[in-house]
Amino acid sequence: MDSSAPKWTRGTILGAGTTATVSMATDSDTGRTFAVKSSPLSESSWLQKEREFHSNISSPHVISYLGYDVTSENGRSLYNIFLEYADGGSISDKIQREGTPGLDESDIRCYTRGILKALSYMHSIGIAHCDIKGKNILIGSDGLTKIADLGCAKRVVGVGGDDKSSSSIGGTPAFMAPEVVRGESQGLEADIWAVGCSVIEMVTGKLPWSEMDGLFTTMNRIGFSDNLPKFPNSISEEGRDFLEKCLRRNPEKRWTSKELLQHPFVSETGVVIDSHYRRSPKSVLDLWFSDDEDEDEDVVDMNCITTTCDPVDRIHILSGGCRGISNDGDDEEWIPVRSRKDDDRQSSDNHRLITTV
Ligand code: ADE
Repeated sequence: MDSSAPKWTRGTILGAGTTATVSMATDSDTGRTFAVKSSPLSESSWLQKEREFHSNISSPHVISYLGYDVTSENGRSLYNIFLEYADGGSISDKIQREGTPGLDESDIRCYTRGILKALSYMHSIGIAHCDIKGKNILIGSDGLTKIADLGCAKRVVGVGGDDKSSSSIGGTPAFMAPEVVRGESQGLEADIWAVGCSVIEMVTGKLPWSEMDGLFTTMNRIGFSDNLPKFPNSISEEGRDFLEKCLRRNPEKRWTSKELLQHPFVSETGVVIDSHYRRSPKSVLDLWFSDDEDEDEDVVDMNCITTTCDPVDRIHILSGGCRGISNDGDDEEWIPVRSRKDDDRQSSDNHRLITTV
C-alpha cells in the first residue's frame, strides 16, 4: 500500500492497550467501515507478526484481514492493519451490557460452536490462537462469532505439537491452561482449555477462577494443583459434560476442536463421539502440591520442581506485578502475557506484559 496517502479516515476508538489501539475507520472512496489496529512503527513487530498470521488465514469464523499501511499522525509513524469490522462488539461487551449472571445458554451454544469452527480451521493449518477469551470473540451483524486478535498466535509443529523453537508463551492468565502456566508447552490443546474457560465466562458473566483471592494464588492453583475452574451450577448437563471434555488438566486427554464440534452442547446433529478416556492420573507436579482447601495457598514449596524456567519466576511474571482478580466479571486486572526469548526487542527484558485492546 502507498504509505504516503492514506485513503481512509480514523474514527472512534474501539479499544486501547499499551502498544496498540483499535479504531473504527472509513474508506474515503467507498464509505465502507472497517477496523484499524495501529501501533507506533518502532514498536510494531507484534502487529506485523499478527498481520502475517491474518494474511495466511481465510475463514468466515475469523475476522478478515483487509490490508495494511504506515501513516504519519501527529508527528509519529504508525503501523496500521485493516480488519473487518464486527458491529456486535465482543462477547465481553455483551456480558457487560446484559450483566451477570451471563448469557442465555442457547446463545452460548451458538457462540461456542462458532469459536470451535474457527479453531478447527486454524488448528488444521497448524496455528494456535493462544488468547481465546470473551474479549477476543467478536459478534458480526449476522449474530455469528468471529475470532479476533491474533497477537499471541503461534505456529505449532504437527497437530498437537508445540513449536519449541519459538520458546514462547502467551495469553491471559485466567484462561491459561496448566501446562502453559508451568511453561511446559502451548499447543492446540491450550486453546481448548481456553474454550472451556470462555464458556464459564459466558455462563457466569465472570472470569474463571474469579472466586480465588489474588492472581499469584490463582496461578499456583492453575499450574500446580489438580483443581479445575469452578463449573457453573446453572449450566445444563450437556454443558457440564462439554466443560469436562475441555477442562482436562492433561492436555492429551482434552478433546480436539473437531471432536468438540460433534458434542451435543454445540452440534447441529446431536451426534457424540467419545474417543477419550476419563481424567488422567495426577501428574508428578500435581502430586507435590496439596489439594486441601485449608492449605495456606500462598506458601507453596516449589524447590523440587525442575523446568526450563523457574516456576516461581514464571508465576511472578504471569501475575504481572501481582494485581488482584476482580470478582465482578471485569477483567481489567487481567493482562495478556507475552514472552518470547527469541524476540530481539526483548533481549534484556524477555517478558512483556500487554494490556488487551
Ligand atoms: N474490536 C477489536 N477489533 C474489532 C473489530 N475488528 N471489529 C469491532 N470491534 C473490534
